[in-house]
Amino acid sequence: MSADAYKRAAAEHGAALVEDGMRVGLGTGTTVAFLLPALAARRLDIVCVATSVETERAARELGLDVRAFDELDRLDIALDGADQVAPSGWIVKGGGGAHTREKIVAAAADRFVVLVSPEKLVDEVHAPVPLELVPFGLLATLRALGEARVRGIPRSPDGGVIADYLGEVGDPRGLADRLARTPGVVDHGLFPPELLSEVVVGEESGVRTIGF
Ligand code: 5RP
Repeated sequence: MSADAYKRAAAEHGAALVEDGMRVGLGTGTTVAFLLPALAARRLDIVCVATSVETERAARELGLDVRAFDELDRLDIALDGADQVAPSGWIVKGGGGAHTREKIVAAAADRFVVLVSPEKLVDEVHAPVPLELVPFGLLATLRALGEARVRGIPRSPDGGVIADYLGEVGDPRGLADRLARTPGVVDHGLFPPELLSEVVVGEESGVRTIGF
């Protein structure tokens, strides 16, 4: 099976976890692109928030009710992809540069479900770790971070510069704390285990769910 087929299997399983009346967070990326039609096809009475302009547009085109995320203060479930998933429960997100909004949405959800193909499973999380940086003082922030590079993609919808930390990760919590403490860093793509409820991995035989 191709990576896309695994992503689709995981995404369709994710769509089946959503129930009538739920407030649903929608992630960003190619896995979420499989989730959206599967979710729309269920014709549930749900309201959604989107983590990117792309997801918002695609979800609306499919008839999903997407609200601004200043209308809701919590979500029942958030569904998203990831770039790396470690057995420790640390994940890396932000391959699409949407990690700041994705983390806000994940943190607001009672249940955060990550949908991946098997090649996203890693022994330990590693660089690159996506960053969103305030444009003001950008060079000084990059200097303070050390091994970090601007990615060269459009700014986030919130005006942030998307970059990547390229150094050693080592202890993810230590690095997450250091990145969060660095002035000019809006947020980073290290998501701690306590944010995560479960990971759904698409496999040959269907899906495997790893609980956290
Ligand atoms: C976007 C993300 C994505 O969830 C992550 O990059 C995985 O993407 P894909 O589903 O395309 O493999 O964090 O910011």
